[in-house]
Amino acid sequence: MEKTVTWGLCLQRDDKGEFFTLANRHFDKIDHYLGYLPSRFIEFFLENAGGRSVDILDLGAGVNLVSAKEICKKYGRKVRVTTIDFVVNKAIRPASVDRLQADAAHISLRDNVFEFIYAFQLLSYIQEDKQLEVIREMVRVLKSGGVALLDDSLPFETINHQLFESFGPVAYCIPREGNKSEPGQVVFGGPSITTMIIKEPVDQRMYGIRERIIGHI
Ligand SMILES: C[S@@+](CC[C@H](N)C(=O)[O-])C[C@H]1O[C@@H](n2cnc3c(N)ncnc32)[C@H](O)[C@@H]1O
Repeated sequence: MEKTVTWGLCLQRDDKGEFFTLANRHFDKIDHYLGYLPSRFIEFFLENAGGRSVDILDLGAGVNLVSAKEICKKYGRKVRVTTIDFVVNKAIRPASVDRLQADAAHISLRDNVFEFIYAFQLLSYIQEDKQLEVIREMVRVLKSGGVALLDDSLPFETINHQLFESFGPVAYCIPREGNKSEPGQVVFGGPSITTMIIKEPVDQRMYGIRERIIGHI
């Protein structure tokens, strides 16, 4: 990687003037912040995999691969987890995780690989003009019928227009519908900001998963 400077948990790519924070959240924290949608989607894909393994991508995984390792431990050999991050801690070598050191805007993988992708606390660390490239890459490597989740609020109209230009009418970015409704109402997403990207053909049963009843979760 290019010239970098680190201090505390922050890192700067000197040549590009980019700053980002290193963090290593646990999967249960990420799952909680995203309204338990990650575990519910992983379980949905496992139930419908017909014995095949489910491919998961943790994008901007964090240097110690904490969440990715925990997913492998929780779901066993039926999941294959890949991580992508700019920064890699070479002392961590988990046998269960496929690790790629890469820029999320240029993923060196073929199209249609993953049933489920999550990017937690990634996009907010990426310059606005590059965020769309990251979304496009997420959609490209997402399998048809797959789901991606982010904890960011995005300019949906622009992004959906760009996704249409790149992929045709197959991929959509769905915003969180908000938490301001009355208790007992059904809304999409978790208690925090959540954005879901889906790639057609979507299994209609997934619509039940993305909803939650306020006051229950
Ligand atoms: C705040 S941390 C979040 C880490 C982890 N997802 C978590 O929630 O604990 C942001 C991570 O994104 C990575 N990152 C930032 N920009 C990136 C890019 N363009 N491509 C790949 N990784 C990037 C950083 O190296 C850092 O590990």
